[in-house]
Amino acid sequence: MVHLAKVKKDSELPSARQFDSIPPIETNDADTNVYGTHFAVDHMPQHEMPEREMPRQIAARMIKDELSLDGNPKLNLASFVTTYMEEEIEEIMTDSFSKNFIDYEEYPHSAEIQNRCVNMIARLFNIPTDAASENAMGTSTIGSSEAIMLGTLAMKKRWQNKRKAEGKDFSRPNIIMNSAVQVCWEKAARYFDIEEKYVFCTDTRFVIDPQQAVDLVDENTIGICAILGTTYTGEYEDVKAINDLLVERNIDCPIHVDAASGGFVAPFTDPNLVWDFRLEKVVSINVSGHKYGLVYPGVGWVIWRAVEYLPQELVFNINYLGADQASFTLNFSKGASHVIGQYYQFIRLGKHGYRAIMTNLTRISDFMASEFEKLGMVILSQTQGRGLPLVAWRLPTDPNRVYDEFALAHQLRERGWVVPAYTMAPHSEKMKMMRIVIREDFSMNRCDSLIQDFKLAIDTLDAMDKNMMAKYRVHMKNHRNQPRHQSLIHRHYLEEKHSLQGKDGKTHGVC
Ligand SMILES: Cc1ncc(COP(=O)(O)O)c(C=O)c1O
Repeated sequence: MVHLAKVKKDSELPSARQFDSIPPIETNDADTNVYGTHFAVDHMPQHEMPEREMPRQIAARMIKDELSLDGNPKLNLASFVTTYMEEEIEEIMTDSFSKNFIDYEEYPHSAEIQNRCVNMIARLFNIPTDAASENAMGTSTIGSSEAIMLGTLAMKKRWQNKRKAEGKDFSRPNIIMNSAVQVCWEKAARYFDIEEKYVFCTDTRFVIDPQQAVDLVDENTIGICAILGTTYTGEYEDVKAINDLLVERNIDCPIHVDAASGGFVAPFTDPNLVWDFRLEKVVSINVSGHKYGLVYPGVGWVIWRAVEYLPQELVFNINYLGADQASFTLNFSKGASHVIGQYYQFIRLGKHGYRAIMTNLTRISDFMASEFEKLGMVILSQTQGRGLPLVAWRLPTDPNRVYDEFALAHQLRERGWVVPAYTMAPHSEKMKMMRIVIREDFSMNRCDSLIQDFKLAIDTLDAMDKNMMAKYRVHMKNHRNQPRHQSLIHRHYLEEKHSLQGKDGKTHGVC
């Protein structure tokens, strides 16, 4: 991961690279075209903040030029994250950049808009709202990861309080989850000192086994995580089966549903699927607004069933600029734009609009799956709305084939498409797979182009013999190991051995 950036030592800085093939022309930065100024032949500042200003149009042009070398988000089929919103809301979101969402006193309407979104999401997830039930609650977050951290903290604190009240040891909490969890669950467990207890996938089952999950529960279990739409195959885990087993065995163990992607899909494409607050053991649910909630990154949501499941000592009443607010977040300041963007999508699209979009995406992913199947691919994802609108597949088993999923991903990359290959969770016999996420702006026309390129990529690889493939592998390896900004990665963290990826070779999925 390149997010944890390495600070270079002085000895690692490149020496000033100068050339003077012909003398420069005297120019005036204010009048001259950007590419006629000395900035166009200077190396961009990289390690030290420059002493002097750069004219704004030149700074903007230089950064735009650099960013144009990034991939095209529309062709990035690895990501669940929204790449299209309507212009009307883009303008409102831009206008709101300067609003600090935490400042409820100054921006009470932004706060009110968050509350409306929490209410709408909670009802979408069938929270009890009758007079006899307690008021539920929720909050916006930066994404599902923050929401999951909060949900995990709440389950841990509730369990600790219960153990303390019973005079029992509360030093060894554990959490139960599928080995195909998104990396944020590994982070939550590690950051908050909770033992990870995994239900492992097999080479034919990529979702949690409810029976095994419930069998793993012991007195130190703070909760079970069930995923509505796994990151790898998009399948829905059987939350109801876990719930029913807990009820049947009279076990006091809460379920948190990680509905990062499925929370805005299942209610529209499979409304009869019972996975949410209709189940008594489900105490909290997270969902990413920036995935199928159809907002640009980053916004997420987490909802709790009742105050019992969000212990008071985690919530801070903060008097900020004169107004009291109850706050449960990991960060403090953040922009208001994304919460506003979420509200726009809710009132603009309504349930009918979401249903229409999610149905189209399902139809497109079903079409793509059937085309891939005709080409001999083994489809691992669900169709007809029984899972997320994505296609996950692997190459057919063939001892004579000289290439693998990673080579196919590389071929597609050369045609502009970002289609990831993964190594599945441990105990899945190190199975390799590929996945294409169908997002709102991936219409049939784009799907047709992809299928054509997919066929060409397969033809190209089929035409390679063992020798050519060996050379191609070396080319891919060199290509993969030498990203342009490799020097940003800190050597100390390159070879981590503590996560499912480090230990077992599972690829932490991009999402
Ligand atoms: C199942 C699941 N949970 C959690 C996450 C993390 O979500 P976010 O990127 O919103 O933090 C993802 C990301 O795709 C996911 O697929």
